[in-house]
Amino acid sequence: MSKLVYGLDVGTTKIVAIAGRVDGRRPVEVLAMGEAPSYGLRRGVVVDREAATESVAEAIEACGGGKLRGGPVSVGIAGSHIRSLNTEVTLLNRSRNRLVTERFLKRLHAEARGADPDEDEEVLHVVPRSFVLDGTEGVRQPVGLAARRVTMRAHVVSGAISSIQNLLGAVEDCGVRVSRVVLEPLASAEACLSPDDRQMGTALLDIGGGTTDIAAFLRGSLAHTAVVPIGGESFSADVAYGLKLPFEDAERLKVRYGSALSDGVDDVAPVLLDDRHHSAKFISQILEYRAREVLEFARDSLDHARVRNSLPGGIVLTGGGSQLEGFGQLAEEILGMRARLAVPRRIKGDVKPVQKPQYSTAVGLLYFAAKNDDLRPKSKGAGAFDFGSIVAAVKGWFRVLPG
Ligand SMILES: Nc1ncnc2c1ncn2[C@@H]1O[C@H](COP(=O)(O)OP(=O)(O)OP(=O)(O)O)[C@@H](O)[C@H]1O
Ligand SMILES: [Mg+2]
Repeated sequence: MSKLVYGLDVGTTKIVAIAGRVDGRRPVEVLAMGEAPSYGLRRGVVVDREAATESVAEAIEACGGGKLRGGPVSVGIAGSHIRSLNTEVTLLNRSRNRLVTERFLKRLHAEARGADPDEDEEVLHVVPRSFVLDGTEGVRQPVGLAARRVTMRAHVVSGAISSIQNLLGAVEDCGVRVSRVVLEPLASAEACLSPDDRQMGTALLDIGGGTTDIAAFLRGSLAHTAVVPIGGESFSADVAYGLKLPFEDAERLKVRYGSALSDGVDDVAPVLLDDRHHSAKFISQILEYRAREVLEFARDSLDHARVRNSLPGGIVLTGGGSQLEGFGQLAEEILGMRARLAVPRRIKGDVKPVQKPQYSTAVGLLYFAAKNDDLRPKSKGAGAFDFGSIVAAVKGWFRVLPG
């Protein structure tokens, strides 16, 4: 039986509303997608709710009007308020037959959520990585197995309550019912990485307009996530500053002539924009400087998490910013591993317009919705924003585990 799924990628430069149909384990069919320029966001977070709401409403209209209003919609989240860590929790299983039940798993989840509490933060995802059952390591699915002492190793992602509230407020003002919030790099990874990539060990880098998002997978499970508050807009802003040009002109120069490898650019070749000549070399030097900074951040982040040397699958680049010429090559140099560019995979329907790196998050949100059977509306819709209901919804996010 097929069901309809919806996603809303509230990006820094553009908002994408997307509707799809899923049918068992087959690829997601994209039914409609609408896009609008994004106003009211900076570095992934809402700074002007009214402007953000208008942009979201425009994207929804572009996606065929009322479709998304009925919801339930999966919404992407990013921003430097996101924090992630690997933790482990242990509980004694007191059931008489010693069998680990789904209910017991839920207790482990609750324990992991409470492990590192901060009153201004809300846990977004608890993603189990592996279980230890009475000393036996590496258990993937503990339900139905017997054990007294059960340890869950998990990756926990949390965000600032106020940032989450502002995002959901802007979305719900448009009459959208939010069913789950998904960390953007996890959504992009759903769209760009195959199960084999995750098994082998692969990191995803989504270079957006406001942020660069990282997700690394080892042995099939999520090992590390991070959000770097630098994106394509910083690249353009640097060019604007360096060339004393309006931001929009710098953006056009970057997209048309930019390169992250300044060595390969002719010293004297000029590029033309609106009858003015600019030095291609100088532009690419500015861009390379930024590109190096972002990639060094990513490298340090992977080093800090001690995963960089365990990624034979290399690095997968996506997001609009990944299209900068030479970026992949520079990534290989700085990160010391193979890099490739990725667009959303395993989709059907009218896929041509969707197969671009800037739509990885949007398509990934459909995958998330597809994985989650529970499609009951969790929030109350337009004008009835109730943070309590959102917190309740948060509890069910990223339901890797059945139950
Ligand atoms: N050919 C290109 N070369 C370089 N940069 C590009 C190119 N095409 C798009 N970009 C950049 O990609 C960025 C937008 O990417 P994307 O649409 O993935 O961001 P977003 O989802 O709106 O933002 P975020 O995810 O950070 O909130 C812009 O900064 C844009 O300049
Ligand atoms: Mg994005």
